[in-house]
Amino acid sequence: MLVTGGAGFIGTNFVRHTLAHHPGYRIRVLDKLTYAGHRSVAEDAEFVHGDVCDAELVERLVAGSDIVVHFAAESHVDNSLRDADAFVHSNIIGTYALLQAVRRHDVRLHHISTDEVFGDLPLEGSELFHEGTPYNPSSPYAATKAASDMLVRAWVRSYGVAATLSNCANNYGPYQHVEKFIPRQVTNVIEGRRPRLYGQGVNVREWTHVDDHNRALHLILDRGRIGETYLIGSGDTRTNREVVELVNQLMGRDPGDFEHVRDRAGHDLRYANDSTKLRSELGWAPEYADFRAGLAATIDWYRSNRDWWQEDKVSTEAGYALVDQ
Ligand code: NAD
Ligand code: DAU
Repeated sequence: MLVTGGAGFIGTNFVRHTLAHHPGYRIRVLDKLTYAGHRSVAEDAEFVHGDVCDAELVERLVAGSDIVVHFAAESHVDNSLRDADAFVHSNIIGTYALLQAVRRHDVRLHHISTDEVFGDLPLEGSELFHEGTPYNPSSPYAATKAASDMLVRAWVRSYGVAATLSNCANNYGPYQHVEKFIPRQVTNVIEGRRPRLYGQGVNVREWTHVDDHNRALHLILDRGRIGETYLIGSGDTRTNREVVELVNQLMGRDPGDFEHVRDRAGHDLRYANDSTKLRSELGWAPEYADFRAGLAATIDWYRSNRDWWQEDKVSTEAGYALVDQ
């Protein structure tokens, strides 16, 4: 199994999960080790340091694989708003290079995507994204992920590539970069800073534990129908303000002790996935049904693994300081 982006947050957890629960796979990771990649956590798999846009390298790696799971991407919306270059390169050209290689070598592909390709839902109401929701991305990040999904769909239809796709909601858990919402606030509190809430914190996200995402991916790899898209989401939606209050509470602080900072440009209001297809066809259900317990375990992980995030924290907060006024 070739895992692109296997040194990032979800990829690292996926590799660990696969080695622990699916020992039949031999895993090779391809990762560029951008600021978001951590080489140390993929030690149990073979590691290739390289760019998924490098067509020659990708061709060679794909030729020696039975299956490709494609996580590699630039993943942070705020970064894409500052400079979209790397997003266009890695997310679009990288997926294209992979598609050409799996097409030539007739190798099965699973493409990891996001609910952000659909844009957002109104704050009020109970509407959900589903597999047929039209694409309407808001941020440069989401637009490049939407483009990559479209490429995969076209290669399935036009060239018969054996691919599946999944669009997951917001993940949380260990090994997530401190630029992202939950680890940023948890590490802020550990370092004695106040959490930072964009705008009024009314935006809603659907929090899915990374292990539940990865269990869904294995179900799709084993039994997903070729050419199909599966939405993944726990069903647990919360405002950002509720999440920050819970982080504070679980860390023994006054829930209301946070700072409002400048809102994100074009900030998507609400995400919520209808994952009925995954649940009914493949029997998936989240094991982390209790967000509070999953968050508490994640907080413990960041408390116990300061060495893993400390260096990233310094550079990340220096970047945020320029825009957080
Ligand atoms: P991440 O930023 O933590 O990790 C991305 C990894 O990809 C890093 O190891 C990085 O070095 C690598 N990478 C980037 N560009 C590369 C390139 N050109 N060649 C090779 N490797 C490259 O991201 P993540 O949060 O783990 O997300 C993984 C995937 O899941 C992405 O495709 C993302 O769009 C998708 N996704 C993420 C979430 C979420 O909540 N984090 C939710 C749904 C979907
Ligand atoms: O929905 C899936 C997507 O989830 C993935 O495709 C992305 O890769 C992943 O980064 C995530 O995108 P978001 O933009 O939703 O996640 P982020 O962690 O950046 O922010 C979550 C929410 O918290 C969002 O509404 C912005 C807000 N926020 C974020 C930060 C970093 C804050 O209020 N304060 C912060 O400091």
